[in-house]
Amino acid sequence: MQGEAFDKLNEVIAEIEATTIDSAEQLAAFRSRYLGSKNILKELMGAIRTIPNEQKKDYGQLINKAKTTAQEKFDNAQVAIEIAEDTKGNSDIDLSAPGEPIALGSRHPLSLTMNRIISIFQKIGFIVEEEREIEEDWYNFTAMNTPEDHPARDMQDTFYLRDDKNMLLRTHTSSVQSRVMTTQKPPIRIIAPGRVYRNETISARAHCQFHQVEGLYIDKDVSFADLKQTLLYYAREMYGPDARIRVRPSYFPFTEPSAEVDVYWGLKNETDYRITKGTGWLEIMGCGMVDPNVLKNCGIDPEVYTGFAFGMGIERQAMLQYRVNDIRWFFENDVRFLEQFEAEI
Ligand code: DAH
Repeated sequence: MQGEAFDKLNEVIAEIEATTIDSAEQLAAFRSRYLGSKNILKELMGAIRTIPNEQKKDYGQLINKAKTTAQEKFDNAQVAIEIAEDTKGNSDIDLSAPGEPIALGSRHPLSLTMNRIISIFQKIGFIVEEEREIEEDWYNFTAMNTPEDHPARDMQDTFYLRDDKNMLLRTHTSSVQSRVMTTQKPPIRIIAPGRVYRNETISARAHCQFHQVEGLYIDKDVSFADLKQTLLYYAREMYGPDARIRVRPSYFPFTEPSAEVDVYWGLKNETDYRITKGTGWLEIMGCGMVDPNVLKNCGIDPEVYTGFAFGMGIERQAMLQYRVNDIRWFFENDVRFLEQFEAEI
């Protein structure tokens, strides 16, 4: 391909390629010469009239090549100049330096233990119910067969929120039982995790706030055998397939009969002796058959339905699982303590 127009065009392409663009001014000049409304390539395009027909196609393609080269050069230079502008006066910024790692948090050990317990019961069809921590006396005590002046109220030192003693910080998650039974119809199969409060002196073993998981199952023909089997299942999931439990008679106002459940912890070393008081058994929860009075108080016919309930503390189980020797660690938010649970999910 030859001819004046071709030569001129090739010259322009060489010129585009050779141009250096280091400033906004050079960028503007480049744009108007090669990409602007009256740019040189348009002018050269006009010369296609003078090209013999059989060469017109080649000429057109060469023009297009020139245009793309100019556009690419322009785009790249524009980005480079923008970056240079942005970092002007910040010349010590090293854009190639690796980023700061993002510090990930960790789950609280009580959440870890609680989530484990929840998923064990979810697997057999229990549904999570969450309820209020500020509760009316009726749901926390009266409905749960613990009327005013009932001696069982002495078992729990209550934080009352008003002089009339009607509003309180719930002393147990059993309050969720009455909330659920007054609003849902059997069959009911729920677990209720949450925080509870008692006016206790804070020590390595006791705190004025702690956590429980409550369970409630109400249907026709629910029996104590169902309760035992459910709790054995729980113990085996939580403490291993060989876990053993024992069920001891006890007393709670809201269940009849009532029981406490121990899991066999063993007596292998001195610590085992200390935490099980030399018996090898560890108490993990209270439970029983829902007292007919409770069902009646909440509008469920005790002639038709029966149910079981249980309530367990979380802190003690978390302390055992993670070998934490002082309950206060859970509430102090000391990151040196919390960071140790980073690997857990
Ligand atoms: N609410 C009792 C407590 O705080 C624990 C408990 C015992 C819950 C027996 C229950 C139950 O549901 O049936 O100590």
